[in-house]
Amino acid sequence: MTSIPHGTSGEPNPLTALSLDRLRCRTSMKWRTYPADVLPLWVAEMDVPLAEPVVRAVTDALALGDTGYPAGTAYAEALAAFAEKRWGWDGLAVERTAIVPDVMLGIVEMLKLVTGHGDAVVVNPPVYPPFYQFIEHMDRQVLEAPLGADLRIDFEALEETFQQAVAGGRRAAYLLCSPHNPTGTVHTAGELAAVADLAGRYGVRVVADEIHAPLTASGADFVPYLSVPGAENGLSLMSASKAWNLAGLKAALAIAGPAAAADLARVPEEVSHGPSHVGVIAHTAALTDGTAWLDALLTGLDDNRRLLTGLLAEHLPAIVHRPGEATYLAWLDCRALGLGDDPAEVFLERGRVALNSGLPFGTGGTGHVRLNLAASPELITEGVRRMVAALD
Ligand SMILES: Cc1ncc(COP(=O)(O)O)c(C=O)c1O
Repeated sequence: MTSIPHGTSGEPNPLTALSLDRLRCRTSMKWRTYPADVLPLWVAEMDVPLAEPVVRAVTDALALGDTGYPAGTAYAEALAAFAEKRWGWDGLAVERTAIVPDVMLGIVEMLKLVTGHGDAVVVNPPVYPPFYQFIEHMDRQVLEAPLGADLRIDFEALEETFQQAVAGGRRAAYLLCSPHNPTGTVHTAGELAAVADLAGRYGVRVVADEIHAPLTASGADFVPYLSVPGAENGLSLMSASKAWNLAGLKAALAIAGPAAAADLARVPEEVSHGPSHVGVIAHTAALTDGTAWLDALLTGLDDNRRLLTGLLAEHLPAIVHRPGEATYLAWLDCRALGLGDDPAEVFLERGRVALNSGLPFGTGGTGHVRLNLAASPELITEGVRRMVAALD
């Protein structure tokens, strides 16, 4: 299965639409956590105005007072159509989906279906820090199978960890991040089939977090986990929230492979009350009519990735950066700078630029920072200038 090439949309780059002054009026986490002299290039929010179809759908809903509880399958239908057009995947069956409040709470519900208290959930560090927090909060045990030096799944480590996870006949799950946050790694069809095979052999259930899927760069192939052979009893979480910047408009979808349909059917009905109805409307509009906007965003992100690579090579050549093919995140190995375990602290204190510390990303995070590329080229350039200034 090969992804369909993204179009060139003719839409303007949404990453250059808002001035810094306008962005500083925002009240969300990215803009309100640090004082005003700090440039925020950290948490995964984007410096973009919303896609026009999303604004229109939400505005229409507000004008109508259509702000009740969510109903129906429009979101799942929109995602199924998007998946077919974008990734050539026609296997997303609307009847095997469930609406969930957001991706993380959806993951919690999926893990409840396939594991019990004290069971292991395998993750691939460095990885999105809330994976640790949510898993531990639900009394499961995190087991790490670190990515290899090439930032790809290390199958030897994965097999050893699966063995450990199911020891004593316990149930276990593997929380796969696909594409991977923070490295931007896009897992290949071969890798995903190998995951399915290994999970099948050890009886480990796979829950794939595919929130970053629409943010796969043009030219790279995102492969839905449930589309690979052997993944029939897998579960996936998808959402429009990351790619269209809708984290404040809560909604996501859980999707079951054919052999996991009975599991998904056990999700309690009340879980479907959690998503915001306005969120569902926004996500549905994004998937249905927001593709041209998304293509313009992806072009802007490609440019930003190249810009960052050039700036680092010129001004901070000691930083090792292996640009990923998805997400708007850059994972920077700063160990050669000699700034200790937490360079983000130094960049913040001395350079007044906020990046994510690598430490909460688990094994492999020491000496690393994560930089958010979903900003204008000017702000990225200024961010690197501040990182350089922190070293003086
Ligand atoms: C891999 C991954 N999963 C989940 C989330 C959070 O998604 P939600 O807000 O829908 O829970 C993020 C946010 O950045 C993420 O990067």
